[in-house]
Amino acid sequence: MSGSADRILISSEQIQKRVREMAAQIEQDYPEGPIYIVSILKGAFIFVADLVRELKRPSVRIEFMAISSYGNQKTSSGQVKVTRDLDVNIEGQQVLIVEDIIDSGVTLSYLKRLLEQRHPKSLAIATLLDKPERRLAPVDVKYIGFQIPDEFVVGYGLDYAEDYRNLGDIRVLTP
Ligand code: PRP
Repeated sequence: MSGSADRILISSEQIQKRVREMAAQIEQDYPEGPIYIVSILKGAFIFVADLVRELKRPSVRIEFMAISSYGNQKTSSGQVKVTRDLDVNIEGQQVLIVEDIIDSGVTLSYLKRLLEQRHPKSLAIATLLDKPERRLAPVDVKYIGFQIPDEFVVGYGLDYAEDYRNLGDIRVLTP
């Protein structure tokens, strides 16, 4: 599909403001100890980079996992595969999974179950975007940046067939 992404759904300024608010809430909720940020590649990389720079404590550990469920399709295949696992032990740690978007919830509900088996002290989820209308698997999300309608969005880390991740705003992709 070739399309255009002319319509801004959430501007870069709105995103930055919300990211600062989310970071302030996270600081309040985790008053001490290291926080392990588990960034889910690839989509979350820009959100994580902005979010962690708003966390002022030194002990913010930034770890990466990669999950594949979509391939180059616009809808989830329902198949979740860990393509890159953590290389640290999270047992006894405060862990925050950071995602760019929750759609069906299939990826996050799988991932949460997987990481719970590693016995972190706490495990929560932060997502920049949430599409509640699309939910198939229930998932408990502690921090949500924006709830959005069921439209295909790109930018700020989100892609369509690997394009558009570099855009600063979140835009709607139209055919
Ligand atoms: C997106 C997003 C989540 C998942 C959410 O990743 O980053 O991981 O889909 O969808 P779900 O709630 O329906 O499971 P994607 O597979 O597009 O990979 P990417 O982040 O590498 O672009």
